[in-house]
Amino acid sequence: MSADYPSMTTAEIRSKFLNFFEERGLKLYPSSSLVPDDPSLLLANAGMNQFKEYYQGKKTMKEIGAISCQKCVRTNDIDCIGEDGRHLSFFEMLGDFSFGGVSKQQACAWAFELITKEFKLPLDRLYFTVFTEDDETHDVWRSLGVAEDHISRLGEDDNFWAAGPTGPCGPCSEIYFDMGEEVGCGSPDCKPGCDCDRFMEFWNLVFTQFDGDGKGGYTRLANPNIDTGMGLERLACLMQGVDNLFEVDTVRNIMLAVSEKANVKYGEDEKKDISLRVITDHIRSTTFLICDGVVPSNEGRGYVLRRLLRRAARHGRLLGIKGTFLADIVPVVARENFSEYPELTEKLDYIKKVVAIEEERFAATIDSGLDILDSMIKETKAAGADTLPGEDVFKLSDTFGFPVDLTREIALE
Ligand code: ALA
Repeated sequence: MSADYPSMTTAEIRSKFLNFFEERGLKLYPSSSLVPDDPSLLLANAGMNQFKEYYQGKKTMKEIGAISCQKCVRTNDIDCIGEDGRHLSFFEMLGDFSFGGVSKQQACAWAFELITKEFKLPLDRLYFTVFTEDDETHDVWRSLGVAEDHISRLGEDDNFWAAGPTGPCGPCSEIYFDMGEEVGCGSPDCKPGCDCDRFMEFWNLVFTQFDGDGKGGYTRLANPNIDTGMGLERLACLMQGVDNLFEVDTVRNIMLAVSEKANVKYGEDEKKDISLRVITDHIRSTTFLICDGVVPSNEGRGYVLRRLLRRAARHGRLLGIKGTFLADIVPVVARENFSEYPELTEKLDYIKKVVAIEEERFAATIDSGLDILDSMIKETKAAGADTLPGEDVFKLSDTFGFPVDLTREIALE
C-alpha cells in the first residue's frame, strides 16, 4: 500500500496527538504500570483504567479532561495474535478523556480535526460506525462533513465498550481506515466491522454513561463522559503506508531480529510468517510485562506472561530454532523503545534472566510433553476419532505439566 499523505514515525504521531490535546486544555498523565492499581483488572487494557474513579465521580479534576499514552496488554484473543497483522498483545493507546468537561460534539470534532487536518488522512478513506440507536453521533459526523455512506450503525457487540465485567462503560463510535479493496475479502457486504483486512479500526470514542456492576446492572453516571482510545501502532501503520503492524517502525526491527535468528525471511511462507509474528508480538509484550514487575506463575497475570513466553518459545521450535533464543531478542525490544521507555534498558539484565529461566523450564517440559501428545494424537486418529480424550489432556497437564491451552492449539493444528 502506498500512502498519499505524509509519513510519520511512531514518536512523531505520539507527540502530535498529545500536543494537540494539551493545546486544548487537557492534562497529560503518564501511562500507568501494566499492573493496574485495581483488583478487578488483571492487566492495564485501556487508557481509561487509571481514570476509573473520575468517571465514577469519586475524584475530580480541575482541567476539562486528561490525555495519555497508555501501555496496554490484551490477550483475550491470544490464539488469533499472529494469525493476522492487525492485532498485538501489547500496544500503546493514545486517549483523551473527560468527566463532564468536554461534550460528545466537541470530542468528535477534535478527533475529526486531528485525523483530517493534522494527520491529513483523506476523508474518502475514513469510515465511521455508531451504536445502532445513536442518532446524535451519526448527526455529529454528518455535520463535520462525513458522507452518509461512510457511516454505519452496529449493535452492542461492536459498539458498546467496557474495560471488564465491572466499571464505567457505554456506547461508542469507531473510526476506520480503508486499507484498499485489494486487501479485502471482496464480499459485497464487506464494510467496517468485517473480519477481513480491508477496514482497519484505529480510534474508538466511547461515550461513557454507565457504571456496570458485573451482574447486568447499569447505573447511569452523573456526568456525560468521554473515553477515547487510538491504537498508536495502528495509526503508525496507516501513516507509514505499510499493510500490517509488524512492519511499523518500532516493531519491524524486532521481527527482523527474530527472522535472522530463525534464518527465515518474512513474506515467503504464510505458516512461517505466523510464527514470526507470534514471536515478535509475544517477546514485545513479555518484555514490557516483566519490566512492570510481572513474573511467570501458574495463575493470574503471571500465567498470562507464562503463556505468552511459552507460546513464543514453541513457535521458535516450529521455525527450527535450536535451543533457547527469546532472551537474545529482549535487547532489541529495549532498543526500539528506548526514547519512550528507557526503563526497559535499565532493567535489561533482569528481564533477560526472567525470560531465559522460563524458556529453559519450558524446554524441559515441552520435550517430554510433545512426544507424549504426539502419540496420543496418533492413537486417537487410529481409533477413528477426531477429539483427544479428556483424560489424555488431563494427564498431560497434571502429570507432565504440559499446558492445556497448548494441547488444544496443537490438537487443532
Ligand atoms: N476505552 C476504549 C477502548 O479501549 C476507548 O477502546
